[in-house]
Amino acid sequence: MMFGAAANAQNQITISADQELSKIDRHIYGHFAEHLGTGIYGGVWVGEDSEIPNTEGYRTDVLEALQRLEVPNIRWPGGCFADEYYWMDGIGPRDERPARINTHWGMVIEDNSFGTHEFLRLTELLDAEPVVAMNVGSGTPREMQQWIEYMNFDGDSEMANLRRRNGRDEPWGVKYVGVGNESWGCGGNMRPEYYADLYRRFATYIRTYSGNEIFRVASGFDTARYWWTDTLMDRAGNMMEGISLHYYTIAGESWQSKGSSVDFEEDEYFSGLQAALRLDEFIEGHSNRMDRYDPDKRVALVVDEWGIWTDPLPGSNPGFLQQQNSLRDALIASISLDILNKHSDRVRMANIAQMVNVLQAMILTDGEDMVLTPTYHVFDMYRTHFDARLLHTHVQVDDYEYNGERIPAVSLTASKSDSGQLNLTLTNLKAGEAQQVNIDIRGQDVGGVLPGKILTADEVNAVNTFDDPERVTLQEFDGYQLNRNTLTLSLPAKSVVMVTLE
Ligand code: AHR
Repeated sequence: MMFGAAANAQNQITISADQELSKIDRHIYGHFAEHLGTGIYGGVWVGEDSEIPNTEGYRTDVLEALQRLEVPNIRWPGGCFADEYYWMDGIGPRDERPARINTHWGMVIEDNSFGTHEFLRLTELLDAEPVVAMNVGSGTPREMQQWIEYMNFDGDSEMANLRRRNGRDEPWGVKYVGVGNESWGCGGNMRPEYYADLYRRFATYIRTYSGNEIFRVASGFDTARYWWTDTLMDRAGNMMEGISLHYYTIAGESWQSKGSSVDFEEDEYFSGLQAALRLDEFIEGHSNRMDRYDPDKRVALVVDEWGIWTDPLPGSNPGFLQQQNSLRDALIASISLDILNKHSDRVRMANIAQMVNVLQAMILTDGEDMVLTPTYHVFDMYRTHFDARLLHTHVQVDDYEYNGERIPAVSLTASKSDSGQLNLTLTNLKAGEAQQVNIDIRGQDVGGVLPGKILTADEVNAVNTFDDPERVTLQEFDGYQLNRNTLTLSLPAKSVVMVTLE
């Protein structure tokens, strides 16, 4: 490793370890699992009679990989699927459940073998909080109310007794509920005034059963559609605990030409990172609108769909949203997580889209095979920030210039755990150049550096495949030097690094 004198470093960062900001809620690291393609069926659920090794019907390999990640929450059943889902289809004996058509995602048959009990058992096995998206688009407040009663009531009611007859005595105590999804689009094509009134109506019937209080998340918009947030906060802000924001990164030219997930070079590497960085602007914009009605930030911004969306893999069903996951996508994850962490005073929950086999997935499966994606490894490293305090940082970094466009060359999150440990994650966005970074730590004496981790590869589009599952994987990182309270790091090109200071 090359270490120059501190004054010559390209990037100067000061971390104030005594200036603790908001808590980085672990729920920022949540996942999204929709009934879409093989996101559930084949990817998570194979059924007890499957030849694929399983635990109570869940793939054992996937379950164990997700357990290692300490998944804090899972959003289910959609997505667009949620606003066409009738929950009673997914309870009772599996062989008696009705076959429906998944009209939004490929017109395939949904046999409902994965329903409420199967989802909530999954969250128990993962020790994750369930986030259940209610059907507002085509459902009724009554259906929603009964579903919540079924999941949360401990007493002697028709719904609670139905749950017991279906094999579950204790209520699950579901806390997080989404009230519609993309209600401006696939969730009903509503206008904000109409949705705000409908939201108020649905929210009225979200009851607290047996002390299980619900955190209600209203359906927000995407990108810069701030007028939606304005109207909702104005008309219904006092009846919600969260409002969502969706943001998908497109590396290609447009939604019609999103770009390949495998076959790209530095142009779509750069444009992907550049597009991902815009999440900062959108969070800022929505949060500012929310401040007008909620200056104390009582209502959370819940970024419950984010990640890169590419063209589907050639030969795959376009309705299944299958894509590979490269080193570029891992960096898109790390810089997006830095942005979410930075706004953790307002953003207290987020969900990457999606958990398995769909869009920017953690895990890919094919029959018996399973592979962990580069994005999985970023989520693994970033566990270091779970529930830690964001630290104040002053950042002066180099630019990464490509074709006349510029983005910052380094992104980071610095946090402090309750134990006083300092957690740093840094990304060098430059495709072809190592970066030296000097970090001055103020306000706390640093005694030493624990062994670090790094994720990088030879190419920006390097992927893990079933034949070559370890091409992009975590390695030990020793490219640092500590001199009293100054840490000097040498970050290889296109890498994500984690170090911990004691
Ligand atoms: O994640 C895929 C889809 O993207 C979701 O179903 C929908 O909410 C969004 O448009």
